[in-house]
Amino acid sequence: MKRAMLMCLALVMALSMLVTGCGGGSGEKKKDDAKASTEKVLRIGTNADFAPFEFQDVDGKNYEGFDMDLIRAVAKEMKYKADIQNINFDGLIPAMESGNLDVIISGMTINDERKQKVNFSDPYYKSGLTIVVKNDNKDIKTFKDLKGKRVAVQIGTTSAKEVKKIEGVEVKELNSSADTFMELKAGGVDAVVNDKPVNDTYIKTTGGKEVRALDELLTSEDYGIAISKKNPEMLKEVNAALKKLHENGEYDKIYKKWFGEQAKK
Ligand code: ARG
Repeated sequence: MKRAMLMCLALVMALSMLVTGCGGGSGEKKKDDAKASTEKVLRIGTNADFAPFEFQDVDGKNYEGFDMDLIRAVAKEMKYKADIQNINFDGLIPAMESGNLDVIISGMTINDERKQKVNFSDPYYKSGLTIVVKNDNKDIKTFKDLKGKRVAVQIGTTSAKEVKKIEGVEVKELNSSADTFMELKAGGVDAVVNDKPVNDTYIKTTGGKEVRALDELLTSEDYGIAISKKNPEMLKEVNAALKKLHENGEYDKIYKKWFGEQAKK
């Protein structure tokens, strides 16, 4: 009985030591907390429905893709903690303008219209637009054939801008590239226009049983990391980090992981 009580007491003491962190240890912990709260946080905006650049893993817990690996490496290089926020594509630049984001990485094409509102890093990926149609579609072979057709695009993208230039086209602007593919499969549109790697990834992961991509490339576009104009210093930091990642082989490693080949120089 006495022995049992003693053991109990020992246990209670051990537990209380754990909770209080053994006196001396607690100072250590406070220091850690302080460090965590002063660690610089990089507020990153993306629209995570754009594989292989940004998407959520099966549990919806982690952000994955080429852009996600790249921006984590950039943040690490800049000594920031990466905080990734998933936002509608057409809400990304407004969120940056209202001061809620430091950078955007979202397969975002560098163009003059956007340059009025944000700064862009050096280009980090070369892309362009292609058309996706159902396998049995016979009459759409080039961009010109979209005349008079119903075409789905993601709202706020270069696809939306380019397709609107085609005469007599009926454009359906949807929230995500995933929605554009769904609309095509459901028969709501005759074609979809998206960035080539995104179209190719969709066809590869779904087995190409229902839809196929056409070869023609409508545009040549460069992706850049958008940086708030409120922080011109950060533009230099991001470019320096990108340069470093090119030099130390990290960029190539990430490129190979997602595209399975050597980065185009
Ligand atoms: N590259 C195109 C653009 O800049 C499409 C980007 C869409 N990105 C995304 N994560 N949904 O307009």
